[in-house]
Amino acid sequence: MRVSDRLPRPRADLETFSVYRTQQVAADVRVNANEWADPNPAGRYLTSRELDDILLNRYPSAAATADLRATLATRYGIAPDQLIFGNGSNEVLLNVFFVFGGHARTTLLFQPTYSMHARLTQIAGGTVVEEHVGLPYDVTLDGALAAMDRTRPNIVTFTSPNNPTGNLIDDAIILAVAERYAETLVLVDEAYSDFAGNTVVPQIATHPNIIVTKTFSKVHAAAGLRLGLLIVDPRIGDIFRAIQLPYNVSPLTTAVGAKIAKRDDDVQRRIVECATQRARVYAALQRAPGIEVFPSVTNFILFRLTDRQPADVHAKFLEHGVLIRDISMWPGCARCLRVSIGTPSENDRVIAAIEAVFSKTPARA
Ligand SMILES: Cc1ncc(COP(=O)(O)O)c(C=O)c1O
Repeated sequence: MRVSDRLPRPRADLETFSVYRTQQVAADVRVNANEWADPNPAGRYLTSRELDDILLNRYPSAAATADLRATLATRYGIAPDQLIFGNGSNEVLLNVFFVFGGHARTTLLFQPTYSMHARLTQIAGGTVVEEHVGLPYDVTLDGALAAMDRTRPNIVTFTSPNNPTGNLIDDAIILAVAERYAETLVLVDEAYSDFAGNTVVPQIATHPNIIVTKTFSKVHAAAGLRLGLLIVDPRIGDIFRAIQLPYNVSPLTTAVGAKIAKRDDDVQRRIVECATQRARVYAALQRAPGIEVFPSVTNFILFRLTDRQPADVHAKFLEHGVLIRDISMWPGCARCLRVSIGTPSENDRVIAAIEAVFSKTPARA
């Protein structure tokens, strides 16, 4: 072997780790990533004067997050130091798995759920243990407690509402687990909770082992901003402040985030619009033959094909200019596809595509 052929070896458990891919094909209507579809240009939020106040030659001071922190603390009824910011909620999630997971520690996941929880657990060096709930995604108290008893994890993760299934997990189940397993970290991913008008944040005061993640990527229409947050008991905050990378969130991000965080009116409008549009797409899926559709309280809908192949159906939607997500390889999601709610005109296209793809008499070429 030549010297140039020799390479350092990565950690053995990451050697076969695959790249996280979302489908990057061109399509008129992109309803594959659970984003908010209305364009939300950055220029809406900062004046050129405000931009000039952000000095890029300097590292940001703590004051750069003060406005954002104060607004969110008031919104959630918490102390400002209960908030930890990250470059998207994926970053704060990774830190959760670093701090409470890692080598010789386990994360319990109720499958099917957001695929990054398993990946981040592994990146942090920990081990995933799973409870296969399947579809419909009905996490029960008995099932959750039995899984806890069987696996005794260091971290248990609840995604509520859940991705990809679109439904809530009963708060009472999360609280019962947190109470019975006070030494387990109970991570609640609330990326979509505003759509459902539900949160367990007020329960942190009495259940300090609960921590909650939220994101600006969904109802705040700012997936490109990359801003996520973690809400923790004040006693747990210091460990996250200790391990996070210095200046991990740009002052441009926190300045825009502070403006967006004040736009409760936008959030309320989107929640109403989402419900109206979701009902339209849901009804179209229900009318279509060969589909089982699952109720959703979020900005996306899961459906399962009774006989056709998901890859074929996905390709047919693309022929109509509509990119949906094939999630048939997710645990327990055989023959499943997921569609996000788009703008009203995009949903017209989605509905037309549903009707065409599932029509009983396919149009002749
Ligand atoms: C349940 C859930 N949590 C977290 C995220 C990631 O959000 P972010 O863009 O804040 O990293 C997503 C994104 O789709 C998600 O579905």
